[in-house]
Amino acid sequence: MPTIHVHTKPEYDIHIGRGLLDRCGELTRAVKAPCRALVLCDTNVEPLYADRVERSFAATGYEVTRHVFPAGEQSKNLAVLGELLNRLGEEGFTRTDLLAALGGGVCGDMGGFAAAVFQRGIDFVQIPTTLLAAVDSSVGGKTAVDLPCGKNMAGCFWQPKAVICDPDLFDTLSPEVFACGMAETIKTGAILDKALFEQLERCDIRSEIEAVVARCCELKRSVVEEDERDLGLRQLLNFGHTIGHGIERTSHFTLPHGYAVAIGMVLMARAAERLGASEEGITERLISILQRYGLPTSTDLPVKTLCEASHMDKKRSGKDITIVVPERLGAAVRRRMTMEELDRWIIKGASV
Ligand SMILES: NC(=O)c1ccc[n+]([C@@H]2O[C@H](COP(=O)([O-])OP(=O)(O)OC[C@H]3O[C@@H](n4cnc5c(N)ncnc54)[C@H](O)[C@@H]3O)[C@@H](O)[C@H]2O)c1
Ligand SMILES: [Zn+2]
Repeated sequence: MPTIHVHTKPEYDIHIGRGLLDRCGELTRAVKAPCRALVLCDTNVEPLYADRVERSFAATGYEVTRHVFPAGEQSKNLAVLGELLNRLGEEGFTRTDLLAALGGGVCGDMGGFAAAVFQRGIDFVQIPTTLLAAVDSSVGGKTAVDLPCGKNMAGCFWQPKAVICDPDLFDTLSPEVFACGMAETIKTGAILDKALFEQLERCDIRSEIEAVVARCCELKRSVVEEDERDLGLRQLLNFGHTIGHGIERTSHFTLPHGYAVAIGMVLMARAAERLGASEEGITERLISILQRYGLPTSTDLPVKTLCEASHMDKKRSGKDITIVVPERLGAAVRRRMTMEELDRWIIKGASV
């Protein structure tokens, strides 16, 4: 069972292993004495996994309560957060109690935020149930809900006491949700680790999933430890996301995030290669690996629309924007550019 230690403030461990779901109580007890525990999950995850989690917590001495919210990004809002906070209050939870976020990124982000603000902060553990949550959202301490004016607009940094990841849970994901997690996994290899990228090019992902998740967590951990508050280096994780967010927004969020990011990565890589900023061949390899995992690599959107949508990126500051450029496979750099320069890149990247 790989365990990855994250040296943030406070520190915590990420446990990864098949079958760990039934040991979540025991793994939590190692860092948090038995107390009251609220298990938070959505309506899809509840019938699949909530009983097992509750059994494990109860068997190790926790007094368990369950709170379920409707599945989907549309639940990641202030109203659903408010219901959750009220529930904690009504149930008499105190500052020494625990929240266990059993779910994908929506559950982890909202549960983490609730834990951060309930009575000014209670402990929480993350039990990621999607590949995306395992490799991305459960590492790094970012919590949030969406506001009508934009995604993740209200949130804070709040580190979990532990992350417990059982890759067997990915067996019940829809192919689309699994593929979205693969987009972020491929991104991690492309920007930070050529060996991981090459493993993904040749491996049978289902049989190597533990090692792949562990490597992604290690890589994201290194970035997060250097830049806990997202002031610089963490921007590397945005590879493909400026154009990706633009495509997502233009589709009115009907195109899944991972699909949009996949297209965004291809466009950036192609632009970089054509402008001599990346090694040759990187776009071709990116396209073929994304296709291998069922992800799209092009869009029918007009270039003008892509440019306009990308200008709305919230990572923009003033007249400039920071773009992530894969100089070589596994080695990306941040590059500050004007919006005009970004348009030139998008035009280069979008023309096939
Ligand atoms: N905090 C961060 O650093 C960070 C990073 C990346 C993404 N995010 C956030 O993560 C969210 C996306 O995460 P997500 O893709 O996991 O979304 P999600 O939590 O909505 O899960 C996707 C779908 O899969 C279902 N599901 C979850 N686990 C399942 C399982 N094991 N079997 C069957 N179905 C299951 C869910 O009910 C949902 O319908 C976004 O809100 C995004 O903003 C946060
Ligand atoms: Zn993403």
